[in-house]
Amino acid sequence: MVPAIGLPAQDREAPVESREWGPRRAPPMTLPGTGWCTTRVKGTFGMTTQQSTATSDPAATGTGETLTVADNRTGLSYEVPITDGTIRAMDLRQIKVGDDDFGLMTYDPAFMNTASCRSEITFLDGDRGILRYRGYPIEQLAEHSSFVEVAYLLVFGELPTQAQLDSWTEEIKGHTFVHENVKKFMEGFRYDAHPMGMLQASVGALSTFYPEAKDIADEEIRHRQIVRLIGKMPTLGAWAFRHTTGRPYVYPKKELSYAGNFLSMLFAMSIVGYEADPRIERALDILLILHADHEQNCSTSAVRSVGSSQVDPYSAVAAGVSALYGPLHGGANEAVLRMLNRIGTTENIPDFIEGVKAGKERLMGFGHRVYKNFDPRATIIKKACDDVFEVTGVNPKLAIAVELEKIALADDYFVSRKLYPNVDFYSGLIYEALGMPVEMFPVLFAIGRTPGWVAQWREMITDKEQKISRPRQVYIGPDERDYVPMAKR
Ligand code: ACO
Repeated sequence: MVPAIGLPAQDREAPVESREWGPRRAPPMTLPGTGWCTTRVKGTFGMTTQQSTATSDPAATGTGETLTVADNRTGLSYEVPITDGTIRAMDLRQIKVGDDDFGLMTYDPAFMNTASCRSEITFLDGDRGILRYRGYPIEQLAEHSSFVEVAYLLVFGELPTQAQLDSWTEEIKGHTFVHENVKKFMEGFRYDAHPMGMLQASVGALSTFYPEAKDIADEEIRHRQIVRLIGKMPTLGAWAFRHTTGRPYVYPKKELSYAGNFLSMLFAMSIVGYEADPRIERALDILLILHADHEQNCSTSAVRSVGSSQVDPYSAVAAGVSALYGPLHGGANEAVLRMLNRIGTTENIPDFIEGVKAGKERLMGFGHRVYKNFDPRATIIKKACDDVFEVTGVNPKLAIAVELEKIALADDYFVSRKLYPNVDFYSGLIYEALGMPVEMFPVLFAIGRTPGWVAQWREMITDKEQKISRPRQVYIGPDERDYVPMAKR
């Protein structure tokens, strides 16, 4: 017998062994606007073996697997199609207690169990630590590909031919320059402005330079903005950094690679030339690849959600940068470095861990909403750390991070909650070794994530099922009440 879900055992009705039962007999009802079939069956309470057998019969609706939902308020039973392991939340709206009932909704704060789109871009299996872009394992891309190639893959769905890659690279390089006025508003920021705030504001401001971007229905115009965004993000990020350090802005150089050009715009002095060590350049390229997409994370959802209003992509990506700025998302690598600085020496780790376990603070760079065994990106980054430290010398904080990881992974608090190092635990150490101040860490993340944002934005815009993003709520405020004049309050 299948037990009734959500009721304490003593409150459950006795199972009904024989009942007028007939999902297969009742005519399927097509739900308005969805094209999905739901069968509505009267007179079933609780769930019985009979029912569960009936629901697994594809003939019940003609659409494959189904789920039977018994509404114990009305005694009605509903059959809902299952596709790709999901049911449509809108199908549940047919479940009502009366004609004036709005219908059943799902309540899912923080979208813990809600798929908001069908996507072909990134596959992620958190339990098995798998991350693939367009089917290609992240480990293979990090080893063999380049960031620019990965950007092509994410946006267009296939690895490019040599000719396609050459032309894509040229296009991106051709769009690394920004309007001279960008320099002027960069100068308007306070001397100690956070570069992520500057990036967010300046990427949003790009929409004012390219009014054509509003025409999101035109594929050619969309393409141009995608190229511009991937091309200009490093320039904006580097200039934000130069502003905070009071150095003159360095213009992009076409002869350099994507990562090499970014490093040059960050660190070159106007007279003395700058040439990045190829190992550093490659390590940065790998870091960008690792951050390029991560399906429906907070910032990507922000891009999709804001973009669903059909605003231009610069405004949508500015929303993504804002979401990424938060310490629970892209700000985590910055928080990790601050945490390691605060811990100071390995002797202080046990005290720090006790504080985390007592709920005083979080172990930054640990835990992930989706990865519950390991974050494959963290494994690759750990190796990149070695490559970078070979050039720069070992960052002394590495010893603290390694010891922290060792102690945490042996502690039941972290093990039982499936908290493992995420991509941000070691990336900050590399960024610091590259000479970046902590404020620049989320900026690097944003540059890396841009191809993912624009690929997801493009997919969303061309997805006929998508509409303006607009969740429902459960209202728990006061009932209607009369306005109280000031004197009577
Ligand atoms: N340190 C200590 N405890 C933690 C941590 C952490 N880093 N992360 C989660 N927990 C604990 C919570 O306190 C909670 O414990 P409880 O069940 O006793 O209340 C439990 O683990 C579950 O935590 P949730 O917050 O429910 O997990 P959620 O999936 O919502 O959060 C998140 C995921 C935000 C990443 C979280 O693990 C966290 O805050 N980590 C630190 C910040 C961080 O590194 N963020 C980067 C994420 S990766 C990225 O954005 C690229």
